[in-house]
Amino acid sequence: MIMNKKKYLTTPFQLGNIELPNNIFYAPLAGCSDFPFRKMSSSYRPGLIFCEMVKMDALIRHDRGTFHILDYDRSMHPIGGQLCGSNPKIAGDAARILQDLGFDTIDLNCGCPVDKITKDGSGSGLLKNPQLIGELICNIKAAVKIPVTVKIRAGWDEKSINAPEITKIAEAAGADAICIHGRTRMQAYKGPANWDYIKACVEVAKSIKVIGNGDIFDADSALRMFEYTGCDAVLVSRGTLGQPWIVEDIIRLLSGEPPIERSFEHNRQALYNHFLHTIGYQTPKKVAIDMRRVGCWYFKKCAASRSFREKISKAENLEIVKNLILDFHIPEATEASPEVEVSDECAECNG
Ligand SMILES: Cc1cc2nc3c(=O)[nH]c(=O)nc-3n(C[C@H](O)[C@H](O)[C@H](O)COP(=O)(O)O)c2cc1C
Repeated sequence: MIMNKKKYLTTPFQLGNIELPNNIFYAPLAGCSDFPFRKMSSSYRPGLIFCEMVKMDALIRHDRGTFHILDYDRSMHPIGGQLCGSNPKIAGDAARILQDLGFDTIDLNCGCPVDKITKDGSGSGLLKNPQLIGELICNIKAAVKIPVTVKIRAGWDEKSINAPEITKIAEAAGADAICIHGRTRMQAYKGPANWDYIKACVEVAKSIKVIGNGDIFDADSALRMFEYTGCDAVLVSRGTLGQPWIVEDIIRLLSGEPPIERSFEHNRQALYNHFLHTIGYQTPKKVAIDMRRVGCWYFKKCAASRSFREKISKAENLEIVKNLILDFHIPEATEASPEVEVSDECAECNG
């Protein structure tokens, strides 16, 4: 049977009153989807790329660090900002700030599992209060003209799955799309995402677009997400780390084009480019620290990634980092070790 994969690719993709180039999006990743990351990613033209989440209250008190997180340049459009918070009184004001900063879309975070976020009812704490999600969306919608989306998890825990109920509430409140991460809050990032929950949301959605999220690490898994759930778009998260080109891989697969083979040397060059973007943006000390995290992303599929990681974690200045990237070699035979899992260690940093 010939499969019509093309039907899953939507170019352009209509989100509310704007047109996005396609329906493959890059997720907000706190501590990871920073300016240099977005500089790398945007060159491959995802349909939408998100900044790291920011807190509503920090935004409205004009916290400098929060505005720094929201830095972007023109090459990163279309770009989404994500709000984290649970106070409906400030949600509209915070959203208006994002709109005034030039963001193309606004998302409400209802998925962050970290205790310090959920304890005041924000992030995935909102899953326990679906009506409040509706109220927040209504207030954000009333404050801005740009599309508004909401990102949720399947539910708080296995016993309280309520993603379909929240999908209906978000639709009634006027959200243009809902993104469902197929894990519960209690799962955090452990175990596989359950795509049945995403499918269930697609089944109840009438006008709201549904974005599938969870365990998309390559083009095949993106195709399976579309096939299995019938979602309108996909949001790639950890799968973007060290492969800013994943949107290109997905679009090629959906269009019936052959995959691009990417060598170790290709990844090294990409890491070097990421390093150059980071130098252009951060202080030298911060670059050395950031590259400890970023360095291992690009080599995660090669067997020598551990030794690279050990070396880069000790690198103290930019010259050492640069030489490490340019001089690092792995034995030919181990180049394509497929056994290395994609790490979720960055979950510690915020998400
Ligand atoms: C390091 C890290 C940071 C994250 N930061 C955010 C965030 O700021 N906002 C958000 O909605 N989700 C955040 N997430 C969740 C991801 O966007 C995504 O929903 C989750 O990783 C599941 O997708 P995946 O299995 O494809 O990685 C974060 C996840 C990680 C691992």
